[in-house]
Amino acid sequence: MRVLVIGGTGLISTGIVKHLLARGADVTVFNRGQRAPPPPNVKLSKGDRGNFAEFEKRFESERFDAVIDMVCFNAEQAESAVRAFGGRCEQFIFCSTVCTYGVKSPPQVLVDETFPQEPISGYGKGKVACEQVFRRAHDAKRFNATIIRPSSTYGPGNSLIDQLEFSPAAWDRIERGLPVLCAGDGLGLWQSTHRDDCGKLFAYAALNPRTYGQDYNATREEVFTWREYYRQAAAALGRKARLVFMPAAWIVKHDPKRFGLLHEITQYHGAYDSGKARRDVPEFRCEIGLERGAGETFADMKQRNAWRDSTGDTLYQAMVDKALQAGVEPVEA
Ligand SMILES: NC(=O)c1ccc[n+]([C@@H]2O[C@H](COP(=O)([O-])OP(=O)(O)OC[C@H]3O[C@@H](n4cnc5c(N)ncnc54)[C@H](OP(=O)(O)O)[C@@H]3O)[C@@H](O)[C@H]2O)c1
Repeated sequence: MRVLVIGGTGLISTGIVKHLLARGADVTVFNRGQRAPPPPNVKLSKGDRGNFAEFEKRFESERFDAVIDMVCFNAEQAESAVRAFGGRCEQFIFCSTVCTYGVKSPPQVLVDETFPQEPISGYGKGKVACEQVFRRAHDAKRFNATIIRPSSTYGPGNSLIDQLEFSPAAWDRIERGLPVLCAGDGLGLWQSTHRDDCGKLFAYAALNPRTYGQDYNATREEVFTWREYYRQAAAALGRKARLVFMPAAWIVKHDPKRFGLLHEITQYHGAYDSGKARRDVPEFRCEIGLERGAGETFADMKQRNAWRDSTGDTLYQAMVDKALQAGVEPVEA
């Protein structure tokens, strides 16, 4: 099986490549070569997919069984991918996102693939536009398209989000025994998937005919509250998390840019049903729990000097002080 991964050296890509190699696939990755190189048995094709003419020419005389696109965010890029790979691959797997659904929850709480797509962010809207381009290419028989929508995915090579930030001050504060902020009452629902578990779905969807023309949520089954999320992440540091609950809008207004994650995504429930993916791709079994995965991720962040030191974060400390002065009692997660 010849597979091309556009991207290939990023977070989820690393999990995908690992499982493709375990399947014995012949793997090529296409990227700008700005990160650590792929494993030695993976071919690297260097280039920028934003340079459409060059990108499309690069693969003119190549044929792949499956192409997995991890770096496509708008319709123009998607159309370029269709020109590059239409008629030149059996299957095209597009990495979308659960942000395409927006922020509403159905009566049964878990969002499945039948839920309407009403994204609120530019990111989600761009991914919906890409999905539409790939569906049209599928209908026109240019290739068999498969759409995969991860939710929050983490692992070594990246940071672990908290409820407030992509690169949180909270983990260092917890390690120092300091209280951390959490929105609402910490009872919002969330899911978190390790990149190696998420990568399995892409790798085993490849050339699986049941996945042709289908879309899949790609999440670990476990749904937890933010209280539990902080409890498990803190346990990975050998600590207990002390949570100071404040309204999301109060936190965001202190620095809307910094707390954009909370504003746009994590103040809402993020709970998705991935039963369809587990039905069609039986190899997609998530095995890495948050405490273990957070432990690996924290160790990697420290080793890469990517651990965010919270000393000197006067804004965060001032916010905690203000909440405590207003009489809010920290609650142990
Ligand atoms: N992590 C999550 O929580 C999450 C959730 C939902 C969806 N997603 C989706 O996951 C995808 C990201 O996948 P990932 O985690 O493997 O990637 P990533 O960690 O974002 O890394 C990006 C990869 O793409 C390459 N790349 C970036 N810009 C490029 C360009 N212009 N031309 C060619 N290659 C380029 C990078 O290598 P170079 O820098 O060397 O080019 C790298 O290999 C995105 O589509 C995102 O929407 C992620």
